[in-house]
Amino acid sequence: MEDCMVKHFISIRDLTPENALSLVRRAKAMKEARHFSTLLQGKVLVLIFEKASTRTRISFEVGVRRLGGQCILMTPAESQLGRSEPLEDTARVLSRYNDGMIVRTFGEEKLHQLMQYGSIPVINALTNEGHPCQVMSDVLTMYERHPDLSALNVAWIGDGNNMANSWIEASIRFSFALTLACPQGYDPDPALLDLAREKNARVTLCRDPRQAAAGAHYINTDVWASMGQESEQRAREKAFAGYCVDAELMRLAQPDAKFMHCLPAHRGEEVTEDVFESPASIVFDQAENRLHMQMAIMEWVFS
Ligand code: CP
Ligand code: NVA
Repeated sequence: MEDCMVKHFISIRDLTPENALSLVRRAKAMKEARHFSTLLQGKVLVLIFEKASTRTRISFEVGVRRLGGQCILMTPAESQLGRSEPLEDTARVLSRYNDGMIVRTFGEEKLHQLMQYGSIPVINALTNEGHPCQVMSDVLTMYERHPDLSALNVAWIGDGNNMANSWIEASIRFSFALTLACPQGYDPDPALLDLAREKNARVTLCRDPRQAAAGAHYINTDVWASMGQESEQRAREKAFAGYCVDAELMRLAQPDAKFMHCLPAHRGEEVTEDVFESPASIVFDQAENRLHMQMAIMEWVFS
């Protein structure tokens, strides 16, 4: 997304199909070359994290350093964010010192406020509505194994959450088939399902995890209660019973199907220990690819 010459990375749906694929190709090349550069030399990126993070924060910090830049972490507990200073003001102040904002927050509207009032690029590091850096990294993880993404069947089993939404956007952009199995009441964003229909994307929503798993090349899941939904844990355990990815479900998929999870995982809930630890599990390749994909995204945003 471009706004008065400032480039932002907010969602996969904002990318053109060519742009999306070139980011994946660039990330693969950067990974293979163990890429370092001076692109961000003299630049400071502020990481505004209103939710916990291991992978996103550390992979961004490493990526910024590999591109020659520096970063500063800002959390609500240790800044005026936690004392309700308006984002409009925070955005204008931070834009006077920094060259970019990498933001993990609750509602996506907060990113829009930061873009509107700030004057530097904003990169989405997860919101309630999407997790585009993760899903772009996951697409890279599939692309390394199957360069013809349009030939793939991908299954999403579980909550129609931020990850599921970004997977729908990825299906539209990269043309792979996506079947989501979500319990009633936990569907992904209906506007994205409409967009998928409008774009003739192969996105199917069903209730039966077995339908989603049948013939899949990749089976994906995520926690049943996302950050901010901890109080719903019990109710969600009931609603999601039957949606655990286990060996029986994996057997319905392609013979060499892979298991994917953005992590952190709750073994014994959304995935069994044996599937998580099986050779079919590529969860740590996904985690590694966060670094390479985000370096490609930052290169695109700051070039
Ligand atoms: N997958 C992911 O975003 O992990 P973190 O919450 O640890 O950043
Ligand atoms: N859906 C999860 C993803 C964590 C990386 C959450 O939002 O907590």
